[in-house]
Parts: sequence; C-alpha cells; structure tokens
Amino acid sequence: NQTQPTICGMPLKYVSLVTLAVQNAALSIVMHYSRVSKTPALAYSPASAVLLNELLKGSISFIIALTRAPIFTDHQSTRHRKSIWSMLYLWTVAFGEVCSEVFSPDCWKLSIPAILYVVQNSLQFVAISNLPVASFQVTYQMKILTTAAFSVALLRRKLSTTKWLSLFFLAIGVGIVQIQTSSGHPVPKPTAVGSAHEYHVHVMSPLKGFGAVTAACFTSGLAGVYFEMVLKGSKADLWVRNVQLSLFSLLPALVPVLYTPAPPNSRGFLMDLFRNFGGWAWATVAIQVFGGLVTAVVIKYSDNILKGFATSLSIVLSFLASVALFDFHITPSFIIGASTVLGSTWMYNQPAGKEPVSVLVTGTG
Ligand code: C5P
Repeated sequence: NQTQPTICGMPLKYVSLVTLAVQNAALSIVMHYSRVSKTPALAYSPASAVLLNELLKGSISFIIALTRAPIFTDHQSTRHRKSIWSMLYLWTVAFGEVCSEVFSPDCWKLSIPAILYVVQNSLQFVAISNLPVASFQVTYQMKILTTAAFSVALLRRKLSTTKWLSLFFLAIGVGIVQIQTSSGHPVPKPTAVGSAHEYHVHVMSPLKGFGAVTAACFTSGLAGVYFEMVLKGSKADLWVRNVQLSLFSLLPALVPVLYTPAPPNSRGFLMDLFRNFGGWAWATVAIQVFGGLVTAVVIKYSDNILKGFATSLSIVLSFLASVALFDFHITPSFIIGASTVLGSTWMYNQPAGKEPVSVLVTGTG
C-alpha cells in the first residue's frame, strides 16, 4: 500500500479530485469561448494548441522530475553543499539520472496512451467547437462508463453490485441532464466574456460535435486505464512517466502542424504556429496543461473511475457558469439529473460494508 501524501493537512487524493472538477468546468467554458468567438479566418489552430500543451506539460514534468532525482533524495548531505560549482554538479547529475530513467527500456509502453491522448485532445477541440458547453460536458461524462468497462477488462478490477448500480444511476442522471440540454436554448447575451454578436460568428454542427465527443469518450477510457496500468505496474516515478508520455505525444502532435498548408501571407513556421493565438487561446492551453498534470496525480493517488465521478461534479459548475455567462436556463429536469449524478457519486464512494445496496441486498451492515 502506498502512503497517501497530504497537502495543507488534507489528503492529496481529495484535493486533486476537487481541483480536477473545477479545472474541467473552467476548461470547457474557456475552450468553447476561445473557439466560437472568432470567425474561421481569425481562429487559432487547434493542432498548435495540442502541440504546445504537450511541450509545456513535458517541460514542467521534467523540471519536477529533476527536483525528485535520486541524487537529491538519496544523499541528505547534498543539502549542505552550497557552492555554485557543487550545485551545478548536482543538477548535472540529476539531469543525467532523469534522462536515463526517461529513456529506460520500457518507455515504449507510454506510446499507446500518448497517441490516444493526442487524438482525444484534438477531438475535444472539434466537439467543443460544435456543441454548447453544457451539452459537451454532459455527453463527455459517458467516459465514466467506457473507463469502468476498460478498468474491468484491462485491470481486472472487480466492481461490487453497488458500484455497478451507481454507474447505472450516473448514466441515467447524465441522460436526464442531456434532455435539459437539448431542450434548453443557450441564448447568448452581452457579458464580460463578449457580445452576443461575437458568440454568433461561429456556426456549430451538433452532429459533428456528438460524433467527436463519443469517440473522445473511448480514447479517454482506454488511455486513462492504460496509463494507470503502466504507472501502477512499475516503480517508475510519476513525473518521469509524464515526460515519457509527452515525448511520445510530440510526433503525432507535430504531424498535423507540419501538414497544414502555409497561409498565403506566411511569416515563417514559428509565426504561423502562433497565428491568431490571443489571450483566450493561451488561457485554454494553460488550463489544459494544468489539467494534464492534475489528472496524472489523480490517476496515481486515486483511480480513473473516481476521476470520472469527480469530473461529473463539474457539470454542475459548468451549468452555473453557463447560466451566468451564456444565459442558460436551469429547469427541474436539470435539478433532478444533477442530483442523481451527485447521489450516484456518493453511492460509489461508500466504503465496502457501508454500501446502501449491500445493506438492502444482504441484510447485513
Ligand atoms: O478527459 P480525460 O480525463 O480523459 O482527459 C485527460 C487529459 O489529461 C488529457 O488531455 C490528457 O492529455 C491529459 N493527461 C496528461 N497526463 C497524464 C494523463 C492525462 O496530460 N498522465
């Protein structure tokens, strides 16, 4: 059993789950706005955003891995060496140690989730550009079911009757909220994030959006469970695994960037890469990078199914934000659906022996 680290006295497991819920809600809103508020001619390239995400995430993970290198953790005496040369020596040794861990013989294992995540991150852009925030968020929760299915198939995880029932109720809750989404009309209004005119300049195609989000649910489930399998099946450091993940993502993320034809008034590869990259585009990438790092922590200290439940809580946050920003209307069916989602989350998290259904089924506590 691994020790559970804490942050400000609270278990990292729960802090990371709550952080992920807030991050998910923020990402769908900012990403959606960054895509629909500009005409196609002024839109930034999602391929560049996906590439940038991997570059930044990989670099941050590498820096964290450096600070946790064996030279720093194994030899307490190194703390007393303060001269610039000894520090330079230590960091060089740490650099070598991390590089040899990154290029270890089993690093290829990360190539599968890396490719799946690049595909998923690209599909996410297609989905969110073609669906209202709320519809995207709710439909994307179906990844909980794909994740549970892959967890059972690949990790041989056994789920109790209560856990299967809570997954079933979660799907029902998501479905009820979905009804609200398709009947509710997100009427844009002039707000802090932009005018109604701006919101209308992009034409959405819901069928394309639903197709993309469904495909993303499968890649999310498979990639997440595969990453968990690799992470928990070896002693390698989480941050080294993350660097490997980003390294293997670079190639599939680079291909669409290289194959995009240069615009007529091209200003060189690098300038074209950042073409139309405004504040909202940078905010999207920053929230994505942060989310990727938190996701890795959640998978390490918790598991993928719990991650799904945490992000399903973000539906509620997204809806509240949609009401404030896009004048979305909350109906009774939303309240019933969201309560079902919350109830099933509580039910899934009951410790074994205290589950409400086992009490009903077996008659024991
Ligand atoms: O929707 P889902 O929770 O599957 O999304 C996971 C996100 O986290 C993806 O964008 C993926 O690129 C990122 N991730 C990461 N590093 C990990 C695991 C996931 O950046 N170790």
